[in-house]
Amino acid sequence: MISDKLLPFGTTIFAEMTGLAIEHDAINLSQGFPDFEGPAAIVDAAVEALRSGDNQYARSRGHPTLVQAIAASRKRLYGLSYDPMEEVVVFSGATEGIASSLLGLLNPGDEVILFEPFYDSYPACVALAGAVPRYVTLRFPDFALDLDELEKAITPKTRLIVLNSPHNPSGKVFTREELTGIASCAIENDLIVLADEVYEHLTFDDAEHLPIASLPGMRERTLTLSSTGKTFSFTGWKIGWGTGPRPMIDAAQAAHQFVTYAVAPPLQVAMAHALSEFTGDEFLRTFRNEYTARRDFLLTVLDSAGFQVAVPRGTYFVLADFTALFDGDDREFARWLTTEHGVAAIPPSAFYQVRPEEGRRLVRFAFCKRMETLRRAAERLGRIAP
Ligand SMILES: Cc1ncc(COP(=O)(O)O)c(C=O)c1O
Repeated sequence: MISDKLLPFGTTIFAEMTGLAIEHDAINLSQGFPDFEGPAAIVDAAVEALRSGDNQYARSRGHPTLVQAIAASRKRLYGLSYDPMEEVVVFSGATEGIASSLLGLLNPGDEVILFEPFYDSYPACVALAGAVPRYVTLRFPDFALDLDELEKAITPKTRLIVLNSPHNPSGKVFTREELTGIASCAIENDLIVLADEVYEHLTFDDAEHLPIASLPGMRERTLTLSSTGKTFSFTGWKIGWGTGPRPMIDAAQAAHQFVTYAVAPPLQVAMAHALSEFTGDEFLRTFRNEYTARRDFLLTVLDSAGFQVAVPRGTYFVLADFTALFDGDDREFARWLTTEHGVAAIPPSAFYQVRPEEGRRLVRFAFCKRMETLRRAAERLGRIAP
């Protein structure tokens, strides 16, 4: 019964690996959700909002309190000004943001540039919009952007570039030089950009997240998506948003009104509280320090277990080459690791379309887990060397 548009995409690899992890009682380093709670004050704010009677349909473009908090945080963090009532829309997570933005902005036959490895909902949503993806491959281990390849992928039909930075699954943070190159390409070819920045606060060492919308000439052609799930460790609440120039927000809203219409008001109010109270320097410093410790621990474990790792500069994922440990492809390795050694991870060849061989020797681990969970995984990973 599945439509021709969706048939090629099957079940997401995340559902498959999480299912296998549960079946084999494996430590789940596959799906990117924390196994710890976010700040209790945010839960308190949600409970208070639930009790206050704000429980009917919210304003479709977003609860006034939340859109104001989003606009204020963009101004404070990046110096970007958005009109809270006209240039912000609240989605049911960035996932809905991706779908509604692509459905609202694209016409059938438009071409869309996707960088591979990609977040798996991009090709599916491009297909739902009747548009055509064109892929530019980023290669292990540094995933540097080849601007010539990007330019070659652009045709007269190209309408939009999807840019994800910090980048899942590679952990790459696009550099200022790369972003400037993408921006020039977009301006010269009159393209629009959908910038998925859900990991905006997850950067390590000296890597700095630079919103592409902040580059000259880009604010008017960029719809930026972000989400509270990663920053506040409430992935299940699914509160995300888009910011951009009014014509782009109107386009995304044109789809959003028919996709979800609106998002749960008490959770929006609580996230407004979170954005106002928990994006100060102190909170973000602690957040980054804790994630840096988790990353460094996992990198050491993977290195001593015999993997070759791509050191992530952002996100909570690490891609590792397992060829010194196992003779087989990424799906076989991920299955073996889960069923024989009790650690679940993601085989990333599913995140490539034109060069899946790039992903066949790699596996993705998520380190958004308690140190205790990572230590238990470390014991198991320490035993896999042949
Ligand atoms: C790159 C990227 N975009 C979007 C999302 C989805 O965000 P949300 O949970 O807010 O729907 C994720 C979640 O893993 C992601 O990694």
